Amino acid sequence: MSIISISNLSKTYATGFSALKNINLDIRAGEIFALLGPNGAGKTTLIGTICGLVMPSTGTVTVGGHDNIKDYRAARSMIGLVPQELHTDAWESPWSTASFSRGLFGKPANPALIEKILKDLSLWDKRKSQIITLSGGMKRRVMIAKALAHEPQILFLDEPTAGVDVELRKAMWDVVRELRAAGVTIILTTHYIEEAEEMADRVGVINNGEIMLVEDKATLMQKLGRKQLKLHLQDKLSALPAALAAHHLELSADGSELVYTYDTKGERTGITTLLNDLGAAGVRFNDLNTTQSSLEDIFVNLVHRQ
Ligand SMILES: Nc1ncnc2c1ncn2[C@@H]1O[C@H](COP(=O)(O)OP(=O)(O)OP(=O)(O)O)[C@@H](O)[C@H]1O
Ligand SMILES: [Mg+2]
Repeated sequence: MSIISISNLSKTYATGFSALKNINLDIRAGEIFALLGPNGAGKTTLIGTICGLVMPSTGTVTVGGHDNIKDYRAARSMIGLVPQELHTDAWESPWSTASFSRGLFGKPANPALIEKILKDLSLWDKRKSQIITLSGGMKRRVMIAKALAHEPQILFLDEPTAGVDVELRKAMWDVVRELRAAGVTIILTTHYIEEAEEMADRVGVINNGEIMLVEDKATLMQKLGRKQLKLHLQDKLSALPAALAAHHLELSADGSELVYTYDTKGERTGITTLLNDLGAAGVRFNDLNTTQSSLEDIFVNLVHRQ
């Protein structure tokens, strides 16, 4: 079941720049969706459009079935947004900022909940400090606390771990996992691809305002698990010897290289038999190397193909 439905969404800014081009995307209830893309790809614009902060040029967005413009309040109250740019009330405390934000959404005060959120984000000791006196990483966590205060069903995190140290990043991901376990849908952007690999249920890649790929992480991991063994042949082959047909090898166009693709997670890779059969067929090679595709490769290929 999808909780956010985006159809034919485009955004052309007043400058004439086209930042989103006919986006169609459904976010599933309860998933962690990682949106990857280079600087300027349109990630923040897309999030802003879904949250009703950026007016689309064409298309529609529904959030929990509510049109995000016609039924803005209902749609927005389902969403917690942690923006990329930090803008907090410098003179307020984490405690009052979070409590006040909850009130803005019309929810009754719930000090126990605010306490839990601040503790989960390791902000409890700083609950009474003025935000201006906190570090950058702490301010970012205050933004998360504020976004969570009204118990949203959907949480947007726009580069939540930029400038956050490794330990705190891990703690933040624990909070995200806990929210997911409680049924919250999470959409995050990140430049740390390994973070998407670790956290996401699905991954989307956006570039130049277009969605290039949306895939289950499990499917991506299958691709990740594949490795290639390349054998550089001593003598070029004009065709694959029949005796090697069972190995599903690929011969490069110029006949100088044999490529064997295998699954690193498989019980057996088949490399030993392959090498034996190559020897028996009289195929000799003078060099070999293995390569493994990563999400990063997939990402870079997609983005550079344009
Ligand atoms: N208010 C605006 N007016 C005109 N152009 C804008 C505006 N906001 C963003 N853009 C342009 O739209 C494009 C997408 O910007 P956006 O902030 O959505 O990218 P992003 O993917 O979030 O990038 P980053 O990874 O750097 O945060 C950029 O080329 C940007 O310059
Ligand atoms: Mg951005």
